[in-house]
Amino acid sequence: MLEKFVDALPIPTTKQPSRTIDGVPMYEVTMKEAHVHIHRDLPPTRIWGYDGQFPGPTFHANTGEPVCVLWKNKLPPTHFLPIDFTVHGAEKSQPEVRTVVHLHGGVTEDWSDGYPEAWFTRDFKQVGSYFSQPTYMYPNIQKATNLWYHDHAMGITRLNIYAGLFGMYIIHDDEERSHLLPTGYYDIPLILCDRSFHEDGSLYYPSQSEKPVKDVNPSVIPDFFGDTIVVNGKAWPYLQVEPRRYRFRVLNGSNARFYKMSLSNGHSFIIIGTDQGLVRTPIETSSILLAPAERVDVIIDFSSYEGESIILLNDAAAPFPQGGQPDRKTTGTIMQFRVGTTPTIGYKEPLPYILTTIPMLNEQEASCRRNLTLSMRPDQYGRNIHLLDDRLWTEPISEKACLGSIEVWTLINLSKATHPIHLHLVQFQILDRQPFDREVYEKDGTITRTGPRRGPERIEQGWKDTVRANPGEVTRIIMQFGPFTGLYVWHCHILEHEDYEMMRPYVVVIQ
Ligand code: C2O
Ligand code: CU
Ligand code: CU
Repeated sequence: MLEKFVDALPIPTTKQPSRTIDGVPMYEVTMKEAHVHIHRDLPPTRIWGYDGQFPGPTFHANTGEPVCVLWKNKLPPTHFLPIDFTVHGAEKSQPEVRTVVHLHGGVTEDWSDGYPEAWFTRDFKQVGSYFSQPTYMYPNIQKATNLWYHDHAMGITRLNIYAGLFGMYIIHDDEERSHLLPTGYYDIPLILCDRSFHEDGSLYYPSQSEKPVKDVNPSVIPDFFGDTIVVNGKAWPYLQVEPRRYRFRVLNGSNARFYKMSLSNGHSFIIIGTDQGLVRTPIETSSILLAPAERVDVIIDFSSYEGESIILLNDAAAPFPQGGQPDRKTTGTIMQFRVGTTPTIGYKEPLPYILTTIPMLNEQEASCRRNLTLSMRPDQYGRNIHLLDDRLWTEPISEKACLGSIEVWTLINLSKATHPIHLHLVQFQILDRQPFDREVYEKDGTITRTGPRRGPERIEQGWKDTVRANPGEVTRIIMQFGPFTGLYVWHCHILEHEDYEMMRPYVVVIQ
């Protein structure tokens, strides 16, 4: 087993524009194969990375300042991870590797959103049916927040992201800057993922012919759980810190693993932001649950821990209680902080009491309410698949939202797993969760509530773009559709579910 805390935490590089046209920075990113060192004692690992990096370079953008990115695919012709042809028939006729890039949480026009069928292969030799053109525009018309970009190619997203195609995209604004939060060396992204390796250092991803474990991983593409936790591209790294406050922008970039983070000395985190930016007021908590694709912006204050080593622990059993159960020796440990003894000079950042204002969307103003199920049923071959609204990807679009309208979506989870549900384009607020009677629903389609209604958790009170919908519960979210019309998607962010078939298109239309 790999020794822990032997590699220093790397910081992804900052992406620089290659030129500026009319004041708009133009970036160019090349997806390519590379070999990277994930652990001191592991031979180099072949990955696919944006600019050959794992994770990709970090973008820094400013609210109100658009940027353009040319995404280029220079990947080798065949995927190096196992693809089951019986699940993805298309791969046989298209040996070239399909990619498309999505800015998760970004408010973008649909032609820049990375629609799964807007894919392209190396040098744009082949393109999908919705491909528009290779340069995407990100308007950055949203508040300071931590987004991420990742692959979204139809049916193989789990493999492309697992191979390394993801990175962070941070938006800054004046409000955030006015708070004098820790910056520079003291402002650090933590991009978490889990991976497994063969002894030669190569990535292990099970092929679909390996049988899913009954009840634990019952669907046709089993949820992937790796045995190694990787942060910013290193396995179980350590970070030397000064005894002062730090800001960490944490992203769960795993395919399926949830993290429930805590500090080994019982010290608490101070949450300052969620998926879509700052929360109203700092929130102190000793544990943080993050589903795939969720982000959290936290302050950790090391000032009274001079000379100590603190371990960032993980204790999440979700989404399947039996499947993702972490073990202290492996996935129950994330990384280590080594607190130095030299006090920082000029450390004086008071945390503001109010970070931002968040207007609450009003249920009374909703013009449409939708009941949408999250379910599992056998496909035409009798294999279990997860579905949204009981429909396959190819069925006609059923969610048509009017531009500017407010809708309430009730996610009715009939399955056995927690699903992190994500909508493109819009930010939403969580209204509540409530247990309901599954059997009654399955018999006559009525929602019989069987337990108390709970509002969003304390750290879910800001703007979100991904929400955990627990089994046996209805989860209600509210959002306003816009500011663009067009074709988008909503899906489960467990990548093994998203790829087959837990994703649906939706449109925003002018009434
Ligand atoms: Cu992070 Cu549609 O995805
Ligand atoms: Cu997204
Ligand atoms: Cu799911």
